[in-house]
Amino acid sequence: MGPDLTHVASRDRIAAETIPNDIGHMADWISNSQTVKPGNLMPPQPLSPQDLRAVVTYLQGLE
Ligand code: HEM
Repeated sequence: MGPDLTHVASRDRIAAETIPNDIGHMADWISNSQTVKPGNLMPPQPLSPQDLRAVVTYLQGLE
């Protein structure tokens, strides 16, 4: 249903090259990707700030 994120941290950009791959942009993407790339197939993820930070920290470690 979604892309393979196994090595997501090794790329310079995410979301089909739409945005830079850094903590802030990735957090924006996960919480509501529709504001970043309208019409894409990923639904908003209503995570708490703590959970969002934990998920982004984890993904940024996937070299
Ligand atoms: C906490 C849950 C989720 C996280 C952390 C997450 C994370 C991500 C990230 C980092 C990307 C960018 C990937 C890349 O550039 O290769 C992405 C894209 C995408 N995700 Fe998710 N995702 C989540 C939930 C979901 C769900 C539930 C779905 C579908 C039901 C989904 C579908 C997609 C799709 C289709 C894309 C590609 C969008 C595009 O580039 O047009 N994601 N996701």
